[in-house]
Amino acid sequence: MSFNDKVVLVTGASAGIGKAIAILFAESGARLAIVGRNAQNLRAVADACAKDERPLEIVADLSTDEGCERTAKETLERYGRLDVLINNAGVGARTNLLSTDMAIFDKVFSTNVRGVYNLTRLLAPSLIETKGNIVNISSVMGTAVAVGVLPYSMSKAALDHFTRLIALELAPKGVRVNTVSPGVTVSELVQRLTGISDEQYSDYLTDMAKGIPMRRVCQPEHVAKMVVFVASEDCELVTGTVIKVDGGVDLAVESSEIKKQIQK
Ligand SMILES: NC(=O)c1ccc[n+]([C@@H]2O[C@H](COP(=O)([O-])OP(=O)(O)OC[C@H]3O[C@@H](n4cnc5c(N)ncnc54)[C@H](OP(=O)(O)O)[C@@H]3O)[C@@H](O)[C@H]2O)c1
Repeated sequence: MSFNDKVVLVTGASAGIGKAIAILFAESGARLAIVGRNAQNLRAVADACAKDERPLEIVADLSTDEGCERTAKETLERYGRLDVLINNAGVGARTNLLSTDMAIFDKVFSTNVRGVYNLTRLLAPSLIETKGNIVNISSVMGTAVAVGVLPYSMSKAALDHFTRLIALELAPKGVRVNTVSPGVTVSELVQRLTGISDEQYSDYLTDMAKGIPMRRVCQPEHVAKMVVFVASEDCELVTGTVIKVDGGVDLAVESSEIKKQIQK
């Protein structure tokens, strides 16, 4: 799969899944714009991606209008075009209805839903020009039912439907839109939320793997490979889909085993 001369924007590229996506696109020849809030981590990812051309690093908070507007503007100013938009940046939340502080709800929705909507809206005209495509990174929690992840699951359900709705709107204009939905994936997400130590996180992953039919959690690279594939011309008629990369988790398993883990 070659992305030679294609311009790809990856949000949330300073850590975890987005970092792996950016590196794989760079290896496939893409010209990159990468976005995150942590400038130092973003710089390290740009170093890892750099070959002939260094990626454009954009330090921005995509939960704000200013962050989305500047990201779109800087990308188009640097490259003059956009072929692929990867909406990966996201935050988690561990809460339920009875303990939800609305600040948590707003943080999750402003990042996982509003920011994605806004950035996509701003860049859709450029994607129409190139007949490009969009990949949104959701979660199996967008369809699973579990106690303890309420606004996060709702935000990912909204994202899945956003994909289906705009895939329909943009298909006549030649733009594809898909979602890749990871299951449990090694990243910074859970430790950011819980503050658990590396050892506790390792135990958590071991526990979670027991509830996964393939008995393994995902590495970011497993997700990245699917993202790059679905963004490629090999998938020229694939649009409006939600593709899970999760080791075979089905809803029955999630509602029993994973629910127990989340409630621990
Ligand atoms: N890990 C999992 O098990 C899992 C499972 C299903 C779905 N996902 C989804 O995968 C995506 C990536 O998560 P991850 O697991 O790789 O988490 P992660 O390691 O915590 O990385 C999250 C990335 O998003 C960026 N980000 C967060 N809020 C942002 C904001 N307001 N503006 C700009 N960038 C922001 C972070 O940037 P900074 O670090 O620079 O702030 C970081 O680059 C998310 O959408 C998440 O919901 C993850």
